[in-house]
Amino acid sequence: MQYKRMPIEIESPESLGYDSIECNLAESSVRDVQFKDIDINLNELVIAYGDHIGKPALRELIAKDYKNISTDDVLLTVGAAAALFIINSSLLTKNDHLIIIRPNYATNIETPRAVGCEISFIDLHFEEKYALDIEKIKSAFQPNTKLISITTPHNPTGTMLSEEQLVFLCQLAEENNCYLLVDETYRDISFQSPTPLAATLSNKAISISSVSKAYGIPGIRLGWLITQEKSLQNLFLAAKEQIYICNSIVDEEICFQYLTKKEKYFPAIQQEVKTNFSILKKWIESHQYLEWIEPSGGVVCFPRFKNEVDIDIEKFYKILLEDYKTYVGPGHWFEQSKRSFRLGFGWELQNAFEKGLNNIDKAIEDARKV
Ligand SMILES: Cc1ncc(COP(=O)(O)O)c(C=O)c1O
Repeated sequence: MQYKRMPIEIESPESLGYDSIECNLAESSVRDVQFKDIDINLNELVIAYGDHIGKPALRELIAKDYKNISTDDVLLTVGAAAALFIINSSLLTKNDHLIIIRPNYATNIETPRAVGCEISFIDLHFEEKYALDIEKIKSAFQPNTKLISITTPHNPTGTMLSEEQLVFLCQLAEENNCYLLVDETYRDISFQSPTPLAATLSNKAISISSVSKAYGIPGIRLGWLITQEKSLQNLFLAAKEQIYICNSIVDEEICFQYLTKKEKYFPAIQQEVKTNFSILKKWIESHQYLEWIEPSGGVVCFPRFKNEVDIDIEKFYKILLEDYKTYVGPGHWFEQSKRSFRLGFGWELQNAFEKGLNNIDKAIEDARKV
């Protein structure tokens, strides 16, 4: 494996220091929860090694939301990030070929790169509303294609595949005897009804998710992968055991108790996202300098400067952070032009969020070449 640090991690808000940011619009999740606001009791917990697949009661709780999915189809991982690592490093070798959409959450691309496999990128374009053209995936197949990798709802654009597209991708994977990895980390914050969990549609589909993005508890590092294919589960368990044996049982217990009461916590989180989203929509739809493709899910979007806007882009980001203490995710985090940036609308509460948008306006004025 050839590891390389990714700009999105080197320049992440936590690497920069949360203290240096007042309006954090770079974050890709909902607001982080504080322990005092949730009802967690760890007094009876024995701090032993846990079940290697993952706490059975937690896996059962996750599985029961989906048709055809059993407790044993769920493998707990250290965040969705570890699920991505396990899947990509178990399935891909230097001799294999991967088809992957771009832009994407950086790890989805970087881990296959570290493996050294052959990669065909299916690029999404603003002009095409960041929609996935499945025909492009179809024509990218090679005899050694082992995996198709997609993200829906998508990071950084917030666009979503339709159910028909997902079903078609599953068929393509079956016909070509390869696997379909679907990063569904944002599925629980779809604005319309979510697409079916990919792993319910085919034995070739692997779904991944976590509690980081929709539930506000990324610090416990709890995610999962789901597949109905027993031989795959066994392969992924072998990888997990070699990397870290089992999850932290403290994390598993916190996650279990939190998700057991999710009906109590989730509506307020959803309401906050909804409020910020309507502020954002109003702001951007009448914006003089920025344009967007409206997201259909998740808590991020990927606006860009209109073509005719003459701006010193480096100066814009510098002023935005240094003078206005406001942070967004520049396009290069996603291998895109810096004229686009990821804007997160789930993390800050309304006042700081509005202030952040206002600061973007001020930084644009300061950085414009007039
Ligand atoms: C699409 C997507 N997948 C996976 C992850 C990894 O998240 P975690 O490991 O915290 O679950 C992220 C984090 O930003 C993400 O946006």
